[in-house]
Amino acid sequence: MLKLGVNIDHVATVREARYRGRGAGEPCPVAAALVCEAAGAHGITAHLREDRRHIQDRDVVALRKKISTRLNLEMANSEEIIRIALKLKPDIVCLVPERRQEVTTEGGLDVAGQLAALKRTVRRMNDAGIEVSLFIAPDPIQVAAAAMTGSQSIELHTGAYAECFGKARERKAELKRLAAAAAQAHELGLQVNAGHGLTVANVPPLLAVVPHLVELNIGHSIISRSITVGLTKAVKEMLEVMR
Ligand code: PXP
Repeated sequence: MLKLGVNIDHVATVREARYRGRGAGEPCPVAAALVCEAAGAHGITAHLREDRRHIQDRDVVALRKKISTRLNLEMANSEEIIRIALKLKPDIVCLVPERRQEVTTEGGLDVAGQLAALKRTVRRMNDAGIEVSLFIAPDPIQVAAAAMTGSQSIELHTGAYAECFGKARERKAELKRLAAAAAQAHELGLQVNAGHGLTVANVPPLLAVVPHLVELNIGHSIISRSITVGLTKAVKEMLEVMR
């Protein structure tokens, strides 16, 4: 069965907008993760960024303790975060490129260009019992390089697909690239996941064309939608206490 990992970073984004530096505050990403699990999510994904713009160290520690599904820690291949991951022991880490200026992870990892460094990190994680996934563009060179690192999985970057979803010809071409990358990765023995920019509108056409998908990691659209579907209850609760 295709699995869903819910990325809860944006819950922390909202909290940090009001409570940065205070060590607590709402909305709580751990509480959100527990709701996602209760709703059937198969895993929780959180990105501990080097600049700590949303998820904080205390969040990943609490997530590790409290969730009962799998914890997928997204992270840059940086020594500081590697050490945190080795101590935290998430079930899996997904190595992503990180640029401070970007709003979210914009491009895939250049695995081919940093093969030796990534191989070392994959070995360190695997030795600690942590699986590794590499977040890459659907590019045959990057897929081949990912297999050479010894990582267990790749996560295909679906951002370009999501961006061109409204343009039929570009969408078709992007789906073709994703399908070819998924087939190549599967052939090379890698588990194939996908994520970034996925929504209830663009997931069905993706699944119709791209083979071997095991897990989708989805954040922004689920957290966004929860605002509109959840606002009614939040307003009613406030009116009730005012009455
Ligand atoms: N997968 C990876 C590796 C990501 O970096 C992100 C964004 O944080 C996601 C999935 C989720 O993307 P979105 O929030 O657009 O669903």
